[in-house]
Amino acid sequence: MSDITRRAVLRGAAGLAGVAALGGLASCSRTTTTTVGPLADAVAAAEAARRKPGGRLVTARLTAQPVTLDLGGRSVSTWAYGDTSPGPLLRVDAGDVLRVDVDNQLPVATSVHWHGLALRNDMDGVPGLTQDPIPAGGTFRYEFAAPHPGTYFYHPHSGVQLDRGLYGVLIVDDPDESGRYDVEWIVVLDDWVDGTGRTPDRVLADLQQAGGDGSMGDMHDMGGMEGMEGMDHGSMGGSMGGMHGIEGMQSPLLGGAGDIAYPHYLLNGRTPADPATLSAKPGQRVRIRFVNAGSDTAFRVAVGGHRMTVTHSDGFPVVPMPTDALLIGMGERFDATVTLGEGVFPLVASAEGKQGRALAVIRSGAGRPPTGDVQVSELSGKALLGTGLSTAESVRLDRRSADRSHNLVLGGSMAPYRWTINGKAFPDADPLRLTQGERVRLRFVNQSMMFHPMHVHGHTFALTHGGARKDTIIVRPMATLDVDLEADNPGQWATHCHNIYHAETGMMTTLSYQAQE
Ligand code: C2O
Ligand code: CU
Repeated sequence: MSDITRRAVLRGAAGLAGVAALGGLASCSRTTTTTVGPLADAVAAAEAARRKPGGRLVTARLTAQPVTLDLGGRSVSTWAYGDTSPGPLLRVDAGDVLRVDVDNQLPVATSVHWHGLALRNDMDGVPGLTQDPIPAGGTFRYEFAAPHPGTYFYHPHSGVQLDRGLYGVLIVDDPDESGRYDVEWIVVLDDWVDGTGRTPDRVLADLQQAGGDGSMGDMHDMGGMEGMEGMDHGSMGGSMGGMHGIEGMQSPLLGGAGDIAYPHYLLNGRTPADPATLSAKPGQRVRIRFVNAGSDTAFRVAVGGHRMTVTHSDGFPVVPMPTDALLIGMGERFDATVTLGEGVFPLVASAEGKQGRALAVIRSGAGRPPTGDVQVSELSGKALLGTGLSTAESVRLDRRSADRSHNLVLGGSMAPYRWTINGKAFPDADPLRLTQGERVRLRFVNQSMMFHPMHVHGHTFALTHGGARKDTIIVRPMATLDVDLEADNPGQWATHCHNIYHAETGMMTTLSYQAQE
């Protein structure tokens, strides 16, 4: 983007990029609208309304830097926030203001996105949309009110940097929540390749190379009905050096379960060879906060010998739902409680549709620790997805009909390796326009044979028919899924698949607030 265009976008000024006729809706009155940019007054006003008198200011510092990490018997060089991955745990109360000074010691530009938070748009951390990238050697101060309690996380929004060690957990506590649990564990899941002979950038280049120049693209296009016979992902074959054929990565629940066979799957930064230990006393009620920070892997989690009760999805409460196993897409978070027996138990996160798993050892008594290949019968039980949950009454959206709806048709192809929304690859996507105060329905229409965990920035939508409030939801192959949101957070919001390779090759658009002139 040229500097002038970029500034016009940021300010939402009446530059060429900022003005659009609202075709269709206002065909007779010729209303013009301007784009509500991240620096618009409406963004500042929404932030002022979020600030709570008496809210604290919580400060933190994140240094994005190259590091060598021990993943448990395997040392890798990678990038992380500080010296560990996951990075530092950030924690505030709802209504507090979080100020984070980011120091970019990476050799490339970066930014930090606060995944799931309804925050002020200019702090959302999407370079080119809400801020300039933080250059190598540069710094940036993020400062925003955190309005809603829950389990969130932070990560870069530049290229495929998330698939390195650059992620950490952000918890917003509810100061009014009574203690319904004795112990809390945070469980962060990740698929890992960096420093094992390839970087995520190399993996992306390989996917694009295997996809070739697109000469086979028509045959294997999955964006429309003409492409039906190409929908088996067969074009990838077993031809990707170092990667398994895509046919191998299938799941009954998710169809095409991913594009990349990772050498390692991690739980709290550890391989099953040297797993993390989670300790509590027998009989204690544990709240487990699950975060999937993976880039191309959904995880199926279960606790050996126990049932879990899911209490929150993407930070927001749900009607408590007992289950043996839980399926977590990339970018999704779930909180679940478990009442512990006495002994030693495995917590397993199996890479759905792939070979491999991550492990933690739960210890509430004596016993031998499980190994990575331990059998956990709960894993093969019925797995719960976010679509199987109902919203808690306290966070239900008011009944209201939609003022506006948008379809998001999800398509793509392996050759060329390219993923689209409504047939277009970001940044060529058509923005999804909306106006503050509206009720907006988004309809995800998946026309590919792969699942896509779709994520909307700055909002927590509601699945229709009383489903959960979420910001990231798995859309299964060939499925259609409706969600409603309240347009109450003005700005320009990235909306994309949280498979970071899909997002990076096009499966992204913007939810674009407009103001009438
Ligand atoms: Cu974690 Cu744009 O997302
Ligand atoms: Cu996707």
